[in-house]
Amino acid sequence: MKKFSGTTLILTGIIVVLAVILVGVLLFMRNLPSAQRGVTPIVQVKAMEADSSIWGENFPNQYSTFLQTETNATRTTYGGSVPFEKLDADPMLRTLFAGMAFSKGYGEDRGHMNALTDVRNTPRLSEKTPATCYSCKSADNPALWASMGMAAYDALSFKQMSDKISHSIGCANCHEAGTMRLIVTNPALDEALKAQGKDWRTFTRQEMRTVVCANCHVEYYFKKEGNYLTFPWEKGTRVEDMEAYYDEIGFSDWTHPASGAAMIKMQHPDYELYTAGSTHYNAGVSCADCHMPYTRDGAAKFSNHNVQSPLVNPAASCGTCHTDVDYVVGRVNIIQKNVHDTMMATEKALVAAIEAIQKAAEAPGADTAKIEEARKLHRAAQLRWDYIAAENSMGFHNSQEALRILAAATDLARQAELKAYQAVNTASASR
Ligand code: HEC
Ligand code: HEC
Ligand code: HEC
Ligand code: HEC
Repeated sequence: MKKFSGTTLILTGIIVVLAVILVGVLLFMRNLPSAQRGVTPIVQVKAMEADSSIWGENFPNQYSTFLQTETNATRTTYGGSVPFEKLDADPMLRTLFAGMAFSKGYGEDRGHMNALTDVRNTPRLSEKTPATCYSCKSADNPALWASMGMAAYDALSFKQMSDKISHSIGCANCHEAGTMRLIVTNPALDEALKAQGKDWRTFTRQEMRTVVCANCHVEYYFKKEGNYLTFPWEKGTRVEDMEAYYDEIGFSDWTHPASGAAMIKMQHPDYELYTAGSTHYNAGVSCADCHMPYTRDGAAKFSNHNVQSPLVNPAASCGTCHTDVDYVVGRVNIIQKNVHDTMMATEKALVAAIEAIQKAAEAPGADTAKIEEARKLHRAAQLRWDYIAAENSMGFHNSQEALRILAAATDLARQAELKAYQAVNTASASR
């Protein structure tokens, strides 16, 4: 048999190595999301396109899973997609929110495709509602903010803005057309990050998989002049930082009619609680890891855009990192029950404080300075409680921080109650 020459052997060797590399690259690319594979788009999507169905022609898997957010109807113990009335589930809320819109209706949240319908149907709307309330509900916003500026947008009323808006949340709220990269679309988020000396354009891809949710899932307020949408993050994003910010500018959302305290309504600070040193955040886990797990469709691998409670499909949401899914779901149940029970104790303390302050204010000759102190304590207690109550995970996103804050809230509420008693006792002692 003729021996192979050295050159033939070397050439064959090179060919084999190249073939192995090629197969390896192909196998690797199969696992990459289509956008990173550089698939040629079927249609050209214009910048800030509000109609998600047009983006959907290029990305059918992301679009079809996104559409499922409209019809999800599973209820979990503390969350899920059934819009039950929280005021009926927990009547203490009517006392805590007395005198403001949330005492009229407080529905559990649903999926992104319902955001526009749900904001238009909330009993919290009134003639005075500003256009700002559309800021987190529609894919029309990025183009409107670009063309008219956010200040002019926010200066309109909800009613005036209504004919300009026709799409619920969509692709344009999270992606840049063309490149499909994740971007900050809400000017208020851009400005809040800047105020902290941060620029999202320098963030890593993994960071953006969390920050993109902060376009909406955050605490915010309307600056009095022109209802300008603002995130109170200048001093930081922990609850005490936001409280210090509000105290410094003397801001309040409403005055509690029973206690007379100048109150803050906290709004879904999901991003702030999660990033305040939670186990998962510190381990580098993003919102999308749990709420948009990778899914396979034949050869394609894509992010599931059916954003909902991860408890509906924990195998997909938690199973990528945790081998014992039943165990971690069991942990969620225990954590949520602990946070819920602690929160009920806080609510009882708040209701007691409100009643005591009201009685003190009605008592003849009561010490008004002490009543004022009690009101300040009521404000401080309730904004802490609400930070955890309005957050959407019943403490799971950061259970240690949730329990720390609820403990502080209960303590402050009982101090408020005590001050109110003292206000009356000082009066009777000096008479
Ligand atoms: C480690 C996994 C994990 C991460 C990371 C995570 N979440 Fe969650 N999230 C959960 C779980 C579990 C719940 C509780 C669901 C329930 O009670 O049905 C939840 C609940 C929610 C809910 C309410 C869902 C409902 O059914 O009403 C929202 C909204 C939410 N998360 C947003 C976020 C945002 C925004 C981030 C990032 C800032 C984030 N989550 C990060 C696991 C996670
Ligand atoms: C443009 C604003 C916006 C962005 C961006 C956004 N959300 Fe939401 N999200 C909402 C609104 C508004 C609702 C409530 C809709 C309703 O109840 O009709 C909601 C609801 C949810 C729910 C509850 C769904 C259910 O079925 O109960 C989850 C979970 C959630 N969002 C997670 C996320 C995550 C994770 C991100 C980032 C990847 C994100 N959201 C980005 C505005 C936004
Ligand atoms: C609430 C924010 C949000 C909305 C709305 C949204 N996406 Fe995404 N999308 C994400 C996140 C987060 C990722 C993961 C990105 C990453 O890992 O870099 C993603 C990834 C993608 C990717 C990359 C491939 C993949 O699946 O990971 C494509 C393509 C995509 N989305 C298309 C769409 C389309 C089309 C729409 C509208 C129908 C849409 N997205 C709406 C947040 C969103
Ligand atoms: C991207 C990976 C990843 C995903 C997805 C993920 N986890 Fe985790 N989880 C971690 C890491 C990392 C830790 C820290 C573990 C450690 O330090 O040993 C952790 C810790 C935990 C802990 C212990 C928490 C604590 O404070 O001690 C629980 C409970 C948990 N995860 C539940 C869940 C649930 C429920 C889901 C799905 C909704 C989930 N995780 C999804 C990575 C993940």
